[in-house]
Amino acid sequence: MSMADLAKVELHLHHEGAAPPDLIRQLAFEKKVDLSRAFAPDGGYAFRGFARFLEVYEAVASVLRTPEDYSRLTAAILERSAQDGIVYCESFLSPDFCGGGDVGAWREYLQAIREAAERAERAHGILLRGIACCVRHFGPQRARRAALCAAETAGDWIVGFGMVGDETMGTQGDFAWSFDLAREAGLQRTTHAGEFAGPESVRQALDDLDVARIGHGVRAIEDPALVARLAERGTVLEVCPGSNIALGIYPDMAAHPIARLREAGVKLTVSTDDPPFFHTTLSREYERLRHAFGWDEAVFADLNRIAAEAAFCNDATRARVL
Ligand code: ADE
Ligand code: ZN
Repeated sequence: MSMADLAKVELHLHHEGAAPPDLIRQLAFEKKVDLSRAFAPDGGYAFRGFARFLEVYEAVASVLRTPEDYSRLTAAILERSAQDGIVYCESFLSPDFCGGGDVGAWREYLQAIREAAERAERAHGILLRGIACCVRHFGPQRARRAALCAAETAGDWIVGFGMVGDETMGTQGDFAWSFDLAREAGLQRTTHAGEFAGPESVRQALDDLDVARIGHGVRAIEDPALVARLAERGTVLEVCPGSNIALGIYPDMAAHPIARLREAGVKLTVSTDDPPFFHTTLSREYERLRHAFGWDEAVFADLNRIAAEAAFCNDATRARVL
C-alpha cells in the first residue's frame, strides 16, 4: 500500500507553516530581507523548541506580505498536498498576518487565496476551506479584531474560527468574546489545547469556548476522566504526531498517546500542522503510525471518515469528499 495513493482529509494545517522553504527563500530575496537565521544547512527551517519555532514561524510570515504572496503560497501548498493524496483540507488563515486585522485588507487576501484554491481545484481536484484564526500570544484585544474579520467573511469558504499560538499565555476563557462572536456568525470552532499545556487547557476549551474540535488535545491523556468526557462528547482531536515529536512533547511515536486515545473511544484525525518545519507529509505520518502501532488501511479509512464528518464545510461540499 502506498500511503500517497490513499484519499486523505487534513483538518489541521497552518497556511504560513506549510510554506515550502524554497518559496520563502525566494520571497526573502525579492524583498531583500535577511532570513538566513531561519534556515538550517540542509535548506529546511532551523529551530529548537517551541519558543524558537514560533519566532521562525513569524519570520517566515514576515515575507508573506501581499495578497499575491499568499496566492503563490496557496498554489504551492495545494500542489504538494494533492500530490500527497489529500482531497480536502482546511487551513488556518490569520487576519493578523493577512492585512493586520483590517477587514477590507483581509477580504483582499481571501480573494487572492480563494482564486489560487480554485485554480488548484481545477488542476488537481483538491478542495480547500479556510479557518480564520486569532493568535493567542497576540492577546485578547487583537483576537477580537481577528474574530470580527472572521465574522464578516463567514460563509461557505471561511467555515470556522480557531485559535493558534502559544497556549501557555493566558487562559482559553480570555478569548471567549471572540469565540462567542464567531459562533453567532455561524462559524464552527476549534482551538489549540493540550499541546504545550496540560489537561486543564483542554478542560477550559470545552467549558469556556464550546469547541467541536481541538487542535492536538493529546495531553488530555494525563487525565482519564477528561479522556472519558472527550469520548462521550464526541469532540474531535486534530492530532499531529510528527509535530509533537519534533517539538519535544513526546520522544518518539511509540510514546505518543494517539493509539491510547483512539482505544479509549476518542474521535481523532491525523494532520501535519506545519509540514516543512517538521520534515513531514501526511503520508509520512501514516507510515510512522503503521510502523509504530500496526495501523492498516482500514484504520486510515476510519480516520478519514471521521475527518470528513468533522470537517467544517457545508454538507454539499462534504458529499464531494466522503
Ligand atoms: N502555530 C503553528 N503551529 C503551531 C502549533 N503547533 N501550536 C501552536 N501554534 C502553532
Ligand atoms: Zn497547529
